Amino acid sequence: MTAKLLQTLPADLDRHRLPKHVAVIMDGNGRWAKQRGLPRALGHRQGVEALKDLLRCCIDWGIQSLTAYAFSTENWQRPSEEVNFLMFLFEHMLRLELKNLQADQIRINFIGDLEPLPVSLKAEIQHAIDVTANNQAVNFNVAVNYGGRGEIVRVCRQLAEMSQNGELHPDAIDEALFSQHLYQFGASDPDLLIRTSGEMRLSNFLLWQMAYAEIYFSEILWPDFDRHEFHLALSAFQSRDRRYGKVNQTPS
Ligand code: FPP
Repeated sequence: MTAKLLQTLPADLDRHRLPKHVAVIMDGNGRWAKQRGLPRALGHRQGVEALKDLLRCCIDWGIQSLTAYAFSTENWQRPSEEVNFLMFLFEHMLRLELKNLQADQIRINFIGDLEPLPVSLKAEIQHAIDVTANNQAVNFNVAVNYGGRGEIVRVCRQLAEMSQNGELHPDAIDEALFSQHLYQFGASDPDLLIRTSGEMRLSNFLLWQMAYAEIYFSEILWPDFDRHEFHLALSAFQSRDRRYGKVNQTPS
């Protein structure tokens, strides 16, 4: 995030029908690097630049919340050098970008089980959350050591314990209560999920919260996902008919 000129919303997009919350599965960093004969780490490094551009775009175009899948519970199974590099990158970027997050009024939040992360990264995460807590422009959520099934099991365990302690009657458990026990990201559920690199899977991302998200798959590798590609994703989103299981009321 750097000093910038406000880029206006492309004329063909309707500002009243933008997604309030966009989620992204940033896939293809490794392939981007491989295509260039570079180490995978450089793909991830370039992926951060794409993420910063997307955040900038959300600010400019008035999209309130962005949630990015940065590290899944399954990603620990990657080679240790790659895992260590990603942990280093998260910490380094947080330290480097905090001033810019502040300047751009971005509120950062993390979802996932942060406990197993390196102590220094956890400290940096908590510091960034605290410093940006009152920012208003965009909610930026980073999913780290996140898994959708694990999140659902965690809620079940919390509710079961409450029930066992007599604090909660099983009849009181409904979707709203369940949602209150999920990781909180200061936003309603995602309206639009974008996954890059041609892969067409959810990969354990926000399984509960994606119930009614529109899903957009892009062939572009994440480091190449730019403002033009985001524009295409938003155009596709605006062409969708979101019925939430109902029938469309407009006469055909
Ligand atoms: C998936 O591509 C990408 C990741 C597992 C890491 C994404 C992380 C970032 C872009 C860094 C975000 C940084 C901050 C500070 C939030 P892949 O490695 O699976 O690519 P491949 O499928 O081509 O191998």
